[in-house]
Amino acid sequence: MKYKKIFSKIAKELENTVDNGKVADYIPELLTVNPSKFGIHLTTINDKHFDFQDDDEKFSIQSISKVLSLSLAYKLEGEKLWERVGVEPSGTPFNSLIQLESDMGIPRNPLINAGALVISDILVSHLKNPKKDFIKFVRNISGISSIDYCPRIAESEKSTGFRNTALINLMKSFGNIKNDIDEVMDFYFNLCSIEMTCKELSQTFLFLATYGRSPYTKERVLSKSKSKRINAIMQLCGFYDEAGEFSFKVGLPGKSGVGGGIVAIYPNKYSIVVWSPKLNKKGNSSKGIKFLELFTTETQTSIF
Ligand code: DON
Repeated sequence: MKYKKIFSKIAKELENTVDNGKVADYIPELLTVNPSKFGIHLTTINDKHFDFQDDDEKFSIQSISKVLSLSLAYKLEGEKLWERVGVEPSGTPFNSLIQLESDMGIPRNPLINAGALVISDILVSHLKNPKKDFIKFVRNISGISSIDYCPRIAESEKSTGFRNTALINLMKSFGNIKNDIDEVMDFYFNLCSIEMTCKELSQTFLFLATYGRSPYTKERVLSKSKSKRINAIMQLCGFYDEAGEFSFKVGLPGKSGVGGGIVAIYPNKYSIVVWSPKLNKKGNSSKGIKFLELFTTETQTSIF
């Protein structure tokens, strides 16, 4: 497949489209990013690489890291995990508090902020040194030892993380947070602060295109069944109240972050990352979604 040619063709088409999106501003440090950045990287399961434009520039992966923390927590906790978090789409914004009260502190799924905070709590319980052990896991599955947190971004989010503080306190009141709130929040903000290039991110997620085995270390990251289920959760919940729209237009399991990144998986074939910092009203990269819509149609690589 001539992926690079297709990237250029679609990018050209998108040049004529007005992007009304806005860079995330509720985390002050994210506002320093150049809004016109645009990067694409596709990695096939045979480790063939196809790149475009700003694909080698680091950006804040934000919520995309929720899939990685979920993968590690699922591996460590097994099916007991689902006693503390659901697998249903929420249909609400990523940082919403509304359902949490009536659902007695059990988040609808692990990819909304409330769910990712519960997953962080589970990892804090399991890991001896959570930050060190988690980044080791990420480096291991990607085969890239230089991947790291960005303390500047973590601190910036900590200074304005009022909604996450509200979510975690509400869940603590229902008994669904076991550890010290500050410790869990610190871990959560750090994992959202991880920086990667499009290339690094597509390599990191390749294990979900290979039914759980890391193509780099050949180690099994997750069982085949767990890997399939993580993709199912991304399909249903990866874009919050835009998950249906993403399925409708793109037709791949995927995850977005407010740093403007999107990763999508075509099982048994590739993982692709698009980065464009301007977000639509749902907090997902507007050009990123548009690009992927045209890409999966042109290449006929949607799961539907
Ligand atoms: O907790 C937050 O609000 C951010 N660290 C992550 C949110 C996010 O990336 C939502 N994604 N589209």
